[in-house]
Amino acid sequence: MFSRSIARRAFSSTAANPYKVTVIGAGGGIGQPLSLLLKLNHKVTDLRLYDIKGAHGVATDLSHIPTNSTVKGFGPDQADGLKNALTGTDVILIPAGVPRKPGMTRDDLFSINAGIVRDLAKSIADAAPKAKICVISNPVNSTVPIVAEVLKEKGVFDPKKLFGVTTLDTIRASRFISEVAGTNPTQEKVPVVGGHSGITIIPLISQTTHKLLPKEKRDALIHRIQFGGDEVVKAKNGAGSATLSMAQAGATFANFVLSGLDGEKDVISPSYVYSPLYKSEGIDFFSSPITFGPEGAAKVNPIGEISAEEEELLAKAKETLKKNIEKGINFVKQSK
Ligand code: NAD
Ligand code: LMR
Repeated sequence: MFSRSIARRAFSSTAANPYKVTVIGAGGGIGQPLSLLLKLNHKVTDLRLYDIKGAHGVATDLSHIPTNSTVKGFGPDQADGLKNALTGTDVILIPAGVPRKPGMTRDDLFSINAGIVRDLAKSIADAAPKAKICVISNPVNSTVPIVAEVLKEKGVFDPKKLFGVTTLDTIRASRFISEVAGTNPTQEKVPVVGGHSGITIIPLISQTTHKLLPKEKRDALIHRIQFGGDEVVKAKNGAGSATLSMAQAGATFANFVLSGLDGEKDVISPSYVYSPLYKSEGIDFFSSPITFGPEGAAKVNPIGEISAEEEELLAKAKETLKKNIEKGINFVKQSK
C-alpha cells in the first residue's frame, strides 16, 4: 500500500520535470529544515520561501548549496511579496502559525492560526489557484476545512489539490512500532487514518504484521502514536513542538505530491483530504491512503478491513472530527 522507494528517489541525482515549490512560514522551526530538505530534492528547481520574518536570510543561506534549484526569499517588506512567492508555483507547503506550549491542545491554536490560514488561503486563491496546497499549520482537522471554504467562496476549490499533512503520524507509527516489536523502523508501514489530533489519529495495527501484539502492548502503542506530539511539546518545555521530525515528514509528503505530478505510479500515503468516505455521516474531511497523480489526489482509497477495536476508535474519532470540521467552516462563514 505504501511506496517503498520514495525516500530513495527523493534524493536521486537526475532532475525530472522542473517543479516550483513555495514554503509559507519558511523562517520558522519547521520552515527552515523543511526548506533545506526541499533544496536537496532534485525534483524541485525553483524554491520560494515566504515568511513575515526571516525568509530572506534562510533563502540566501540555502542558495549556496550546489543543487539544481534557485532559492528566493519573499516577505511583506516587498511589494507583492506573497503574490510573487505564489504566482505560477506548483506546490505550496504551509507551516505558518504558532505551535503548542505544554498544557495546550492543538485546538487551542485555532484562535490564532485560523485567521492566518484563512488569509493565506485568500492569497493562494488569487495568485495560485491551480497549485497543490499542503497544510501543516495546526489544528489540521480545522485548518484544512478553512482553506477549502475560502477556495470555495473564491470559486477555485478543487478537492484533488488540497491536503492536510498527517505524515508525521505515519513516521512516528513506524518508529514506535519498531521499538515495541524490535524490528527495523524503515521496514515498518503502519496506515494511520482519521485526523491529526489525539483520538482522531487512528493507527491501523490490524493491517500490519504485528496484529497479534498482546492487548496491553497494543493499547500503549496506539496511545503513544495518538499523543506522540505531546512528548515533543513536553520535552521542548515551552520552546514549541515537533519541528525536525515534522520537516522530514513534510519533505516526504512534498515528494509524494511531486512524484504524483511527475506521473509516477502507485504513490500512496495517507493524507487528510476532502473525502467521500464518511460524507453521508456529515464528515467531509478524513485522512485515508491517497493515490497521488498529476492532478493531485487521484484517488481517495477506503481504509480497508479493520478490527472491532479499531471500529470503536473510528467511531470516537468521527465525533471529534465532525466538530473540528464544523468549527473551521463556521469560522470562514462568520468572518465574511
Ligand atoms: P514557528 O513559530 O517556529 O514558525 C512559524 C512561522 O510562521 C514563523 O516563522 C512565523 O513568522 C511564520 N508566520 C506566522 N504568520 C505568518 C503569516 N501570516 N505568513 C507567513 N508566515 C507566518 O512554528 P513551527 O514549530 O514551525 O510550527 C508551525 C505550525 O505547524 C504550528 O501551527 C504547529 O502546530 C504546526 N505543526 C504541524 C504538524 C503536523 O503534523 N501537521 C507538526 C508540527 C507542527
Ligand atoms: C505534532 O504532532 O507533533 C504536531 O501536530 C505538533 C503538536 O502540536 O503536537
